[in-house]
Amino acid sequence: MRLLPVVVSVLLTAAAAYFVYLPLPDAIQEPWKLMMLDAGFRVTVHLAALKQWLGMSHYMYTIRQSTEAFDGFSKTLRGSESGGGGVVPGVKVSDTDFDGIPVRVYEPPPGGEGHLRRGVMYFHGGGWALGSARKGSYDAINRLMSDELNAVVVSVEYRLYPEVHFPVPYLDCFAAAKYFLSPEVLAKYMIDPERVAVSGDSAGGNLAAAVAQQISSGDSRSLKFSVQALIYPVLQALDFNTPSYLQNQEIPILYRNLMVQFWLQYLGADLSLQSQLLANNHSSLQQSAFTPELRARVDWSVLLPQKFQKNYKPVIVGKGPQGGAKEVPGLLDVRAAPLLAGPEVLAKCPRAYILTCEYDVLRDDGLMYARRLQDVGVTVTSDHYEDGFHGCFSFLFWPFEFDVGKRVFRSYMNWLQKNL
Ligand SMILES: *[C@@H]1O[C@H](CO)[C@@H](O)[C@H](O)[C@H]1NC(C)=O
Repeated sequence: MRLLPVVVSVLLTAAAAYFVYLPLPDAIQEPWKLMMLDAGFRVTVHLAALKQWLGMSHYMYTIRQSTEAFDGFSKTLRGSESGGGGVVPGVKVSDTDFDGIPVRVYEPPPGGEGHLRRGVMYFHGGGWALGSARKGSYDAINRLMSDELNAVVVSVEYRLYPEVHFPVPYLDCFAAAKYFLSPEVLAKYMIDPERVAVSGDSAGGNLAAAVAQQISSGDSRSLKFSVQALIYPVLQALDFNTPSYLQNQEIPILYRNLMVQFWLQYLGADLSLQSQLLANNHSSLQQSAFTPELRARVDWSVLLPQKFQKNYKPVIVGKGPQGGAKEVPGLLDVRAAPLLAGPEVLAKCPRAYILTCEYDVLRDDGLMYARRLQDVGVTVTSDHYEDGFHGCFSFLFWPFEFDVGKRVFRSYMNWLQKNL
């Protein structure tokens, strides 16, 4: 009897199942799909670390190559070249630059003489290190937006880590936004100046919130966004022990460690500081630059509804190591952490849509921002998904389509349809 092959295949199957299986909360639907996605991501991260260790390439390049290969593979499976959502025939797509920043512009068919359209400036997510306006689901999503909203959508190809770090990605987005909002450019694209949105997901939501603040508190009265639509935005780096950071630290695909790593990379800090940040040592009471006034702006024990606080206790470190804020430049810069902006800045911000997911380390960043904007009189639609997980907005297309992703996308589009 040939027992060995049977034993080997049983062991291999068990090992594969062990690697893929991850206990997930019951509320998350289609758990196996998420586990497969997560396993693929973990394999990539291990491979990337190995290649960097062998001196072959920066790990971020390996991760980028893999996501592009995955993208190409999905397209082949779908048999479509349009990026995922199928061809949207009426939408004209062109690559150009706004004040030197590469952008992809999606234009709906012109509606005749004097017929103005909506405008949307979009910043993609990916931890300020991954993703592209031109690739993956972003291209497909922006085509659909342009078509359904009859909007000129401008997706910005801001520069990423490791090529650059803060403030460069922010400055790229800000420059593109200023250019887009100028009367000449809006006129050229036949856009109604009263109907221009700024939007983004995850790290793109961070950039959208920061750009919205800076534009609305700027001197120029002619430059303004009418609304901001933020999808699970990243908004602060002072407290990595919010209830959502703790509750969801092991939920794919944005693990708590990974988000801290993205922050250190973005701010150009030493990656070995990760454990200090996870312990909130970087925002200890000894850090005099982090004043009580600033602390109150990220104080979830006040800003978060009780329902989300559960039994979590604030992690406030009395004595951390010296350095802290100094070793992590930009930590207190509102252009990096929009939740730290003062009430006078927030009061001038445009009407907001803020989407949050229960199974997301960034849930509380979004909920606190919604509350702070509301407190100063800004109209906010806070749209919370009890079964949502971080990244679901990007999974709308086969083979990695999630029902919750489609519902989130519909809800976002409905809000823009009514409010833009
Ligand atoms: C946090 O800071 C304290 C005081 O310097 C130190 O003893 C502790 O090891 C630090 N924690 C981490 C995780 O680095």
